[in-house]
Amino acid sequence: MPEPRTILITGASSGIGRALALAYAAPGIRLALIGRNAERLEESAAAAKARGAETVTVQLDVRDRDSMRAWIAAQDAANPFDLAIANAGITTGLANESSSEDPEAVRALLAVNLFGVLNTVEPLLGPMCARRRGQLAFIGSIAGLRGLPFSPAYCASKAAVHAYAESLRGRLERHGVVVSLVIPGFVKTPLEESITAAKPFEIDATRAANIVRRGLSRGKATIAFPMPLYLVARVARILPPRIVDRLFTQFDVNVPETRERIPS
Ligand SMILES: NC(=O)c1ccc[n+]([C@@H]2O[C@H](COP(=O)([O-])OP(=O)(O)OC[C@H]3O[C@@H](n4cnc5c(N)ncnc54)[C@H](OP(=O)(O)O)[C@@H]3O)[C@@H](O)[C@H]2O)c1
Repeated sequence: MPEPRTILITGASSGIGRALALAYAAPGIRLALIGRNAERLEESAAAAKARGAETVTVQLDVRDRDSMRAWIAAQDAANPFDLAIANAGITTGLANESSSEDPEAVRALLAVNLFGVLNTVEPLLGPMCARRRGQLAFIGSIAGLRGLPFSPAYCASKAAVHAYAESLRGRLERHGVVVSLVIPGFVKTPLEESITAAKPFEIDATRAANIVRRGLSRGKATIAFPMPLYLVARVARILPPRIVDRLFTQFDVNVPETRERIPS
């Protein structure tokens, strides 16, 4: 794949999104960075500029469909995107001893993790297909491969992103648009640090971003890491479900409930 020169990244104000911005930052690269926290977003942009990249930032909530469409379409019209990375995401889980998630938290999470992803890529589908080039990258999760008893809505959101990305991949590649699904395990970020659990094969965000960048430059359909955890999740899918349920419920995991709510 030709190296992308114009790149859109959502969730660029923290964690994997910021690390991706820095992984791509270099002279001749234009980064369009979306986040909500102005200060952290500007820190990401300043670090990218220090590496020679041109940056443009916007404070946007990925749930805001109209604003996302307007900004992304305007940026794309002026400087067509070679690569868009739908990365912004949140997590939520079952509060201790609780048997169900707060329905408001569930809806807020789906709005960010699923509709936010749609709001990111939909404005680019037509333009990328029309020019017969471009790449869309979706940040899924190993938690999207098999439902976990700690975070039903998060797993559901990522499973949906996986299915959506896979469906688009089959459809868009005949139009010259490459679709890649990224399936990370534990990556040290504020999101991941909010979770209490054993975190096998945890890596830092810089390493994760480098793996993603390498995989995207090869046009890989799926970029899953770390491989041992990915394989465990794949095997868990084919083992008898109740055995896997029993196994998972042995683990001591606490995924805090998100404070995000659908804006009124
Ligand atoms: N870290 C892991 O172990 C891991 C594993 C698998 C998958 N992932 C996925 O990787 C992605 C990035 O997560 P991370 O670990 O880097 O988390 P993070 O450090 O908490 O960063 C999340 C980013 O998403 C942005 N974001 C959240 N809600 C948003 C909204 N409504 N509108 C716009 N931006 C929003 C945040 O921006 P603001 O802070 O500015 O709001 C922030 O930049 C997520 O999709 C996550 O599910 C992470």
